[in-house]
Amino acid sequence: MQIELSGKVAIVTGAGRGIGRIIARTLAREGVTVATLELRTELLEDLASEWNAEGWPGLHLQCDLTKSESIKSAIAAIDAEYGRIDILVNNAGIANGGRIEDLPEAIWDANFAINTKAAYLVAQAVAPIMKRGKWGRILNAASYAAITPSIGSAAYAASKAAIVSFTRVLAGELGPHNITVNCYAPGMIPTDMNGFANASPERQEKLLDTLSIRKWGDPQDVANLICFLASDLASYITGTMIDISGGKYATQMPWLAYRDA
Ligand SMILES: NC(=O)c1ccc[n+]([C@@H]2O[C@H](COP(=O)([O-])OP(=O)(O)OC[C@H]3O[C@@H](n4cnc5c(N)ncnc54)[C@H](O)[C@@H]3O)[C@@H](O)[C@H]2O)c1
Repeated sequence: MQIELSGKVAIVTGAGRGIGRIIARTLAREGVTVATLELRTELLEDLASEWNAEGWPGLHLQCDLTKSESIKSAIAAIDAEYGRIDILVNNAGIANGGRIEDLPEAIWDANFAINTKAAYLVAQAVAPIMKRGKWGRILNAASYAAITPSIGSAAYAASKAAIVSFTRVLAGELGPHNITVNCYAPGMIPTDMNGFANASPERQEKLLDTLSIRKWGDPQDVANLICFLASDLASYITGTMIDISGGKYATQMPWLAYRDA
């Protein structure tokens, strides 16, 4: 059995670094034309030079996902260039927070603007193009925080929990058009966003003790799932959230099994 994605056109938001970068690169290696939407110009330049060096087709567009006009013009440019959009990965996100009495309104709004509202705006612009092509895959980044949130993460966790419902509604609305919509919940993947790699050794051990597969996640783990969900092999999976967290809290105290192994 093989995953076949060649010839598809994908959008990956927030692809300049972290998980999104690896998703975009993995899709490109599978023969997908990848359009990336990214806020930071230095990351876009870096993307463009990698794509040029590899000879991969693609567009790397500066886009502020908090601005609906910026999103509309980026999607129009991709449609004008390729005449189709098959796969949308709403990856971009931020994770800022604080406990309730120290949680500024601006931080609450920023989490929802990027983690939730941007997914809605991009999907809204892309849906008519996928309908036209009678095929589509929308993949939204949720988070393990949508399953079991952490102290101090009210804004982030709520913005990601909203993505789960959003995903289910879109799956229902777009199902008749041969478009599946799913979200995924990564657990702990060290990136610039979370700084896990810089945590003290004691904290790292405590975090790893929550896992059934006792190691950090890798962006490639997520990229592999995205390739499967984007393919025809996953055509009967829609409206769901895939937990990709190494079995975080699959049991209480998973570390007991490692102590006794
Ligand atoms: N790393 C993890 O362990 C983890 C866990 C659960 C969920 N996630 C989710 O996965 C996604 C990627 O996470 P990551 O760790 O790679 O983060 P990251 O911070 O490394 O990357 C996020 C990217 O989004 C871009 N971005 C942010 N705001 C933007 C805006 N307004 N417009 C355009 N681009 C913007 C950033 O420039 C960056 O390139 C996020 O949605 C995150 O919530 C990550």
